[in-house]
This record gives sequence, C-alpha cells and structure tokens, in this order.
Amino acid sequence: MKLIVAIIRPDRLNEVLEALYRSEVRGLTVSRVLGHGGETERVETYRGTTVKVDLQEKVRLEIGVSEPFVQPTVDAILAGARTGEVGDGKIFVLDVAQVYRIRTGERNEAAVTPPEVEHATE
Ligand SMILES: Nc1ncnc2c1ncn2[C@@H]1O[C@H](COP(=O)(O)OP(=O)(O)OP(=O)(O)O)[C@@H](O)[C@H]1O
Ligand SMILES: [Mg+2]
Repeated sequence: MKLIVAIIRPDRLNEVLEALYRSEVRGLTVSRVLGHGGETERVETYRGTTVKVDLQEKVRLEIGVSEPFVQPTVDAILAGARTGEVGDGKIFVLDVAQVYRIRTGERNEAAVTPPEVEHATE
C-alpha cells in the first residue's frame, strides 16, 4: 500500500477529483494548506539582502491505495493538476506499513478497497 500525498493548486481540485473518480479511486482526504515551492525573492534592506519566503494557498490530497491503483492515481493527479506554469505542485508517494478500516477491523489491502455500497433495494 502507498499513501499518495499531492500538493496542488486549489483551482485544479475539481479537475483532479473528476480524474480520480474516472480512475475509480475513491477514498481521499483534502486539506487547505499554505506552501512554498522553493522560489526565493531577494529583498534589499538597509542591512543587506534578505530572502522573502512567500506562502501560497494550496490544496493537499492524501490518498491511500493498494499497488494496482498507485500509477492510475498519480496519472490522474498529473492530468488534472497540470497547467504547465510554475507552482503546479508535487506528488509524493509514501510506503504505508499498515491500514485498518475501523468499522470492520479489516486491514491492509482489504481496508483500502472500497466497501460494498449497501443499497436499500426493498
Ligand atoms: N520539497 C517539497 N516538500 C514539501 N512540499 C513541497 C515541496 N516542494 C513543493 N511543495 C509544495 O508544493 C507547492 C507547489 O510547489 P511548486 O509547484 O512551486 O514546486 P516547484 O518544485 O517549485 O515546481 P515548479 O517549478 O513547477 O514551480 C508548494 O507551495 C508546497 O506546498
Ligand atoms: Mg515552484
């Protein structure tokens, strides 16, 4: 299992969510964050040059997936989030030791497979 952490532009969130849905990636967490991409702006001050670190509003996605879903998830984020301009963000792919679904106690692959949706048919 992997935890895919992606930092994207807030205005690309809908496109990324749609691309993930088309790739059948379901569970995810979304947070608003502040980030810095490494670009520094030199500011002249009377005592010399300092560096200004501007923080930009970004969106952080966390998606736990089993191995077959790793590349489809990465591809969906790349496709949905890319504008081609600097600041499009980053994707980190982390190894995950264990996952548990709290309701059932299922662990690992079973815990990141979407549960059967229970439809009331009667
Ligand atoms: N090394 C990093 N570690 C953690 N977060 C990062 C890192 N690099 C970028 N981020 C996050 O991603 C956001 C967007 O970064 P950004 O797209 O500017 O990265 P970049 O490497 O400078 O690429 P680009 O050249 O396309 O701008 C940052 O605001 C920050 O939240
Ligand atoms: Mg940058």
